[in-house]
Amino acid sequence: MLHGKRILLIISGGIAAYKCLDLIRRLRERGASVRCVLTDAATQFVTPLSVSALSEDRVYGDLFSLTDEAEMGHIQLSRDADLLVVAPATTNIMAKMAQGIGDDLATTVLLATDKDVLVAPSMNVRMWEHAATQENITTLKSRGIRFAGPTEGNMACGEFGEGRMVEPLEIVAEIETYFAASAPLAGRRAVVTSGPTLEAIDPVRYIANRSSGKQGHAIAAALAGMGAETILVTGPTSEAAPPGVEVHHIESAREMYDACMSALPADIAVCAAAVADWRPAEQGDSKIKKEHDAAPPRIEMIENPDILRTLSAAGNQRPALVVGFAAETDNLIENATSKRKRKGCDWIVANDVSPETGTFGGETNTVHLITGTDTEAWPAMRKTDVADRLAERIAHHFDQNTEAAE
Ligand code: C5P
Repeated sequence: MLHGKRILLIISGGIAAYKCLDLIRRLRERGASVRCVLTDAATQFVTPLSVSALSEDRVYGDLFSLTDEAEMGHIQLSRDADLLVVAPATTNIMAKMAQGIGDDLATTVLLATDKDVLVAPSMNVRMWEHAATQENITTLKSRGIRFAGPTEGNMACGEFGEGRMVEPLEIVAEIETYFAASAPLAGRRAVVTSGPTLEAIDPVRYIANRSSGKQGHAIAAALAGMGAETILVTGPTSEAAPPGVEVHHIESAREMYDACMSALPADIAVCAAAVADWRPAEQGDSKIKKEHDAAPPRIEMIENPDILRTLSAAGNQRPALVVGFAAETDNLIENATSKRKRKGCDWIVANDVSPETGTFGGETNTVHLITGTDTEAWPAMRKTDVADRLAERIAHHFDQNTEAAE
């Protein structure tokens, strides 16, 4: 969910600062980059060395450091982030934020930022309940500062009450909610098909194809990364389940069809799977025997349901945007353009899968996006970049349509 997000973590001097080490790990596990600013007091609780090792970045702390300013001025530091997180936030740093005091790097960055700020307070219950703290919190909330916690519990000082910093995973959840709400495809639902299908000949043998699922999985990951609730219906592949995606594993085209239909309604459908066009007409319960001297069996094939075509004609269940793929070995644009019409989908992504392109199973793809009004030639790029670009185009499409409707 946090893939590519840049978090500026400001650590102030409270006993809960040790939990920030775990917070940094959790954020990085989810694909975020974390750059840290420590107040002087914070360095009494955690060392810049630990913070730097976990964030795999240098740590900032001194407003008047010539090297720091030359490398990354405090204004740049505050702008080069998608979200600022203050954890733990002491009563002191919140008081300075409320008063607009900038007397060290952390508070100056907080004054200079044009980004949203999430604060995770941590202090003794009396300090939390103090009228000054409560007034400062009211001021900060009125300025749009977000809060995660605090909660109630046992305190390091031996008292019990409100003021405990929330656990790192709860701060992570708040950060994910923040990005999900502002994501371009928030509130949209997407169904993506990926990988090959396996069509059984008998309980042992099957017919399959060379699809690796890399492109479809990358598209599901990109749509989820942009905030869409994403359902991935995939045939057998060795690709890992993309984070934040609901995955349905299927084998045959008919199972893929059923899984897609029960995933409706959806706003977006992207059919990237290499669905078998035909399946053996008979799929017996027992293994076909190789009889001595007998002729090889003849396998009669029948047509599979066309998922893309069915989704495109699903009446009031039809996703607002249906995108198909056209894997072609010759006359790419011509064949893909007529496929778009035949299938009834809105867009088609045409790719050349001639063996010499290495598209099947490879990391790169060269595609054309055919939208009906335009045919765009995209340069050769990694499948993950094709996915990101397609997801951006989809988000842009919904943006334009929402504007037009307003
Ligand atoms: O007809 P063809 O297989 O070339 O069409 C490719 C497009 O149609 C892809 O988007 C593929 O996922 C989709 N398709 C489908 N169901 C089928 C066959 C193809 O959804 N049975």
